[in-house]
Amino acid sequence: MSERTLVLVKPDGVERGLVGEVIGRIERKGLKLVALELRQVEQQLAEQHYAEHDGKPFFGSLLEFITSGPVVAAVVEGPRAISAFRQLAGGTDPVDKAAPGSIRGDYGLEVQYNLVHGSDSAESAEREIKLWFPEL
Ligand code: TYD
Ligand code: MG
Repeated sequence: MSERTLVLVKPDGVERGLVGEVIGRIERKGLKLVALELRQVEQQLAEQHYAEHDGKPFFGSLLEFITSGPVVAAVVEGPRAISAFRQLAGGTDPVDKAAPGSIRGDYGLEVQYNLVHGSDSAESAEREIKLWFPEL
């Protein structure tokens, strides 16, 4: 059974020229791109996307960061796509949690600048895909 997940290459990943690297890993894993777009994130979309973190100490800087430059947003499809991409990404902290071999483990050093986002559950994926790609 196939499922869909929302993937973002965050502003640090775009700025560092790692879009091709991230998309390449998704494709080589066997996952399919259903939508792909470079876009500047408006404040409102950023707040909605990260609503679960409202009130946390890092919320303000997270919003500032995600709106600081263009991101690449993608909808990725395949069997167990949600978990598959979370595995490709690695844990949230690129040093303590993300294993070498993962995107964050290979390219990240700081938790805020961890390069990619992937939906964390079927419910999140549905909500986030509606938010980013209402036409899908
Ligand atoms: P979270 O949803 O917990 O992580 P993930 O992206 O792995 O699902 O947090 C969202 C983002 O917030 C995370 O990718 C980076 C940032 N963040 C911080 O800047 N500081 C923190 O302490 C945490 C937990 C997250
Ligand atoms: Mg999350």
